[in-house]
Amino acid sequence: MKIGILTGGGDCPGLNAVVRGVTKAALKKGWDVVGFRDGYKGVVEGRFMPLDDKAVSGIIIRGGTILGTSNTANPFAYTLEPLGSVKAPKDLSGLAVKNLKNMGVKALVAIGGDGTLNIAYKLHKKGFPVVGVPKTIDNDLSATDVTFGFDSALKVATEAVDNVHTTAESHHRVMIVETMGRYAGWIALRSGIAGGGDIILLPEIPYIAGDIVKAINDRRRRGKHFSIVVVSEGARPEDGEMTVSRVVEGSPDPLRLGGVSYKIASLIEKNIEVECRVVVLGHLQRGGSPTPFDRWLATGFGVSAVDLIEQKRFGRMVALNRYSCQSVTLAEAVGKLRRVTPDCLEIRTALSVGSTFGNAGIVK
Ligand code: F6P
Repeated sequence: MKIGILTGGGDCPGLNAVVRGVTKAALKKGWDVVGFRDGYKGVVEGRFMPLDDKAVSGIIIRGGTILGTSNTANPFAYTLEPLGSVKAPKDLSGLAVKNLKNMGVKALVAIGGDGTLNIAYKLHKKGFPVVGVPKTIDNDLSATDVTFGFDSALKVATEAVDNVHTTAESHHRVMIVETMGRYAGWIALRSGIAGGGDIILLPEIPYIAGDIVKAINDRRRRGKHFSIVVVSEGARPEDGEMTVSRVVEGSPDPLRLGGVSYKIASLIEKNIEVECRVVVLGHLQRGGSPTPFDRWLATGFGVSAVDLIEQKRFGRMVALNRYSCQSVTLAEAVGKLRRVTPDCLEIRTALSVGSTFGNAGIVK
């Protein structure tokens, strides 16, 4: 028995822990394991590395992925030349499956977010045995209680919110911390609660300039001459759009968000006599060693993926459900984002401790 593994989409802490979990569990069963380089790109181009006990030794503590990844390599709409330039999309999924079969790979573990899992689902429908493992710092996949990578990103974001408090207080400033998260505000929301953010701005709750200004003025009236604003990169005004920082051709979701915090700073400074400073965390949130929770979750997901293969339950994704590793079909897992809702526990919690959301319509 030989299985393959790939990591696709944006990297995050915990990917190596899954690679290690899959490899060690498979080796114990006497199987061979190969890791494809750079996500689906390695499957199309036939580039891989054998994974044995030595190859995965010591990697549980490392961020990133030893296999490499790509967020533009989709075998069903392939746009990459060997040197990476963009051309007209071509369906190379037949070549991908042929390569897998020629190598004797009997099943593929695809580790990734919605884009990677969508491709895994298509390969499954094409007849190749696949299982998926959910990854993303955004924690926006609806079919699992949590994805690995999220806790590690939260650690970085919360430390940043903690660290801006003293400088905000010393200078009587408004400090604005911008987190990642794409179209879901979970990183900003949870780190905002954990770090004691005063105003939390999310993609799911469009902000109103006057309500942000009022929240800062209210604090000043209460003698608090500094404020901490935690902004998700997807936050947008009630009458406007998200802030796009670049467009990545060939990516399943070409829009890259970023920079909304500068707009927030300028709207605050226009309305209140106060200085603002901005910290955009960006890819810092995807780096560093995975937290113990992410290492545990990623290892559990890896081992469960091997169990699914042994049971021949293909076309499924491992998922955490009430602290137990279970699985759902890829059909159920893909295309449904889990976003913040106004009545969720986190919003109620934040409101109860006095945080606001730049929109007075969200009341307790
Ligand atoms: O989905 C993970 C994520 O880090 C998002 O939070 C962010 O918007 C995006 O990926 C950044 O992508 P890239 O690494 O291509 O800049």
